[in-house]
Amino acid sequence: MASIAFNVNATGNAVLDGTTLNAVINKKSLLTIDMTMLDIDYRNRILALKRENNTVILAHNYQPPEVQDIADFIGDSLALSRNAAETDADTILFCGVHFMAETASIICPDKKVLIPDLNAGCSLASTINANELKSWIKEHPNAIIVSYVNTTAEVKALSDYCCTSSNAVKVVNSIPKNREILFLPDMFLGSYVAEMTKRKNMYIWPGECHVHAGIKAEEVNKMLATYKNADFLIHPECSCTSSTLYHMATGELTKTGHILSTEGMMKHARTSNAKQFVIATETGIIHRMKKENPGKTFIPIKEDAICKYMKKINVEKVHNSLVNSVYEVKVPANISKKAKLSIERMLAIS
Ligand code: 13P
Ligand code: SF4
Repeated sequence: MASIAFNVNATGNAVLDGTTLNAVINKKSLLTIDMTMLDIDYRNRILALKRENNTVILAHNYQPPEVQDIADFIGDSLALSRNAAETDADTILFCGVHFMAETASIICPDKKVLIPDLNAGCSLASTINANELKSWIKEHPNAIIVSYVNTTAEVKALSDYCCTSSNAVKVVNSIPKNREILFLPDMFLGSYVAEMTKRKNMYIWPGECHVHAGIKAEEVNKMLATYKNADFLIHPECSCTSSTLYHMATGELTKTGHILSTEGMMKHARTSNAKQFVIATETGIIHRMKKENPGKTFIPIKEDAICKYMKKINVEKVHNSLVNSVYEVKVPANISKKAKLSIERMLAIS
C-alpha cells in the first residue's frame, strides 16, 4: 500500500509536501486515511506537549474513544474530582463538561484548569440556577441542601453537600433522619436515593438529563427478553431506574440488575463472571469497557444514548487547548470558597 508522508505545522494544520493537505486531496477515501494519520500525529504532539507543560489530562467515561486514549486518567465525576485534588501537575486539562472543569478549579484554585470547548455544557446542570435554588430554600428554610455534582458553581455555593451518582446514597444517609433535605437537580437519581434511604422528608427538584431520561422502562423490558444471561448495568439518572428497582425486587433482575455510577459499572464489568452486559448509560463508556475486558460483550441499551455536550471535545481541540492554553475555567473566589465546602464534604464520603 502506498504511504503518504505529511507533517503537522505549529498551528496544527496538516501539510503535505509544503502544501495544505485539504488543498491537494480531492478523493474522499484518501481523506479518510489521512484524517486517521492526522489523529495519530495530533496524539503524538499532545503527548509531548502535556509533558512539556506539566499538564494532566482528565477524561470522563463518556468522552469520544480517541480522547479517552490520550488521557492520563479516565473516570466518573467522583474519581476525576479526586484525581484533580491529588495531582501535582500545574495544569489540568479537563475533557468533560463545564461543571466538571469548574469543580476541578474549585478544588485546585492555584492550578490552571482548561476545557477544550466552552460549549461543552450539561442539560441537567441547566435545569436549576442560583436564583431558583434561593427561592426553593425560602420555602424550606431549615432544609439541608444536597446538590448533585452536575450543577453550576453558584448552585454548589448555596449547597451544604455535593454528591455524585456513586456516593449519593451515602451522603443522604450521613444526614440526621429528622432533617428535611432538598435534593437537586436530577429527579430520577433523587427518587432512587429516596427509595434506597427510605427518607420521607426529601424534596426533589424536577430536573433530568436528556440522554438518561430517554432510557425508558420499555428499553429494559425489550432487552430483558433478548439477553437472558446478561448483566444489566443501569445509571441512576435513567428514567427506567424505578421500574428497574421494581424488577430487581420482584424477580427478573434480582441477581443481574445493578444500578451503578459509570465507575461502578467499570468495576462491575471487571469483576463479574458474566460474559454479556447490557449498558444503560451514555454509549461512550463502552469503548473503555471493551478495551479493559477483552472476551466480554457490551451492548448499549440504546444506540443513540449520546451526549452531544461530551462529544464537543475532540483530539484537535485538545491539541489547540495545549498549544494556546485555552479555555481557562476560573470560579470567582467568593463563590469558590463557599462551593468548596460542599465539594469537600462529598470527597470525604466515598
Ligand atoms: P458519573 O460518571 O458520575 O456516573 O456521572 C454521569 C454523568 O452524567 C456525568 O455527566
Ligand atoms: Fe449532562 Fe447528561 Fe451529558 Fe451527563 S450525559 S453531561 S448529565 S447532559
